[in-house]
Amino acid sequence: MNFRLGPLEVLCGHSNNASNVSRLMLCIGILCGMSTTTWAATGHLLGLEGLSRPQLHAMLDDAEQFLPVVQGVVDPEPLLAGRVVANLFLENSTRTRVSFSVAAQRLGAQVVDLLGSTSSSTKGESLVDTAANIAAMGVDAIVVRCTASGGPQLISEHVDVPVLNAGDGMHEHPTQGLLDLLTIRQHLGTADLDGRRIAIVGDIGSSRVARSNLHALTTCGADVVLVGPAELVPTDFERLIPNEADRGRVTVQHDFDAVISDVDVVMMLRIQFERHEDQAIPEDYIERYGLNAARAERMADGAAVLHPGPVNRGVELVNEVADGPRSLILQQVTNGVAVRMAALAGLLAS
Ligand code: NCD
Repeated sequence: MNFRLGPLEVLCGHSNNASNVSRLMLCIGILCGMSTTTWAATGHLLGLEGLSRPQLHAMLDDAEQFLPVVQGVVDPEPLLAGRVVANLFLENSTRTRVSFSVAAQRLGAQVVDLLGSTSSSTKGESLVDTAANIAAMGVDAIVVRCTASGGPQLISEHVDVPVLNAGDGMHEHPTQGLLDLLTIRQHLGTADLDGRRIAIVGDIGSSRVARSNLHALTTCGADVVLVGPAELVPTDFERLIPNEADRGRVTVQHDFDAVISDVDVVMMLRIQFERHEDQAIPEDYIERYGLNAARAERMADGAAVLHPGPVNRGVELVNEVADGPRSLILQQVTNGVAVRMAALAGLLAS
């Protein structure tokens, strides 16, 4: 459900001068909004598949309420004071783990980190046992990143605290999909993406980012072109979209140059080298699928470049484009904290 806060809109225009009264209204307003958001009804955030367009919009609206806090314009309110959020990260991460931690701490929660290399999973403990033990210590939420697709879902069936998926194998990465959608909404001025065309380029088959985006973007009305070599882009990828009307808007294209000038957003992906043990990456990959300066030149006026990070500079993106005027990469990172604040507050604040 949408909510808009008058006081926040006022506050946004007055950096560092927020009155206590306005801040209190902001806090109450956020809590009121959060308590009625329908997306949080399942008690977990496991994926974007199945969420409706209004639910996605509501999540972005929620996140936008927190952006002034992330940007330092408004002081944080301790909506989650006294709560403990556990980060269970069994796969490497820079952005997502720090972003969840910053988000939780901005909300006044304490964060405990359990990382793969130091967890008992290295002694053979199962994912569910590890998570159940953390839950038994009385934490208030578990943020999970793991190599097993479906791991967070499984955990959610065995613990009685909210579980937030921070990326599970090749399945989903819902907060990344949301922060990408928020960035696109800010750039285009609308999250109703009917008639808009978005290219996702690279290692589509291995990418949980691609999957979450595919669900979010098609639900919001976009046409999505999946671009990459045949080895990395399964032709039957559209089967992932349950709704037949949405499925028709997903196409596969192996020629990047055929779509580059005809899209509103290009979302570049990293090759997931860690998921390609025995599959060679095509030798001409950089030449055919790298976003170099010449290709970026051919993009439509105002078309933007996104990348979830980490960027392999010189592979999928050259420096000029990664740091150039079309790049929204750092805006994505900022938005990530706001999205995660909204997710944590939506599931935990009451
Ligand atoms: C992505 C991930 O881990 O799935 N990164 C991220 O969370 N920012 C993409 C990637 O690793 O390439």
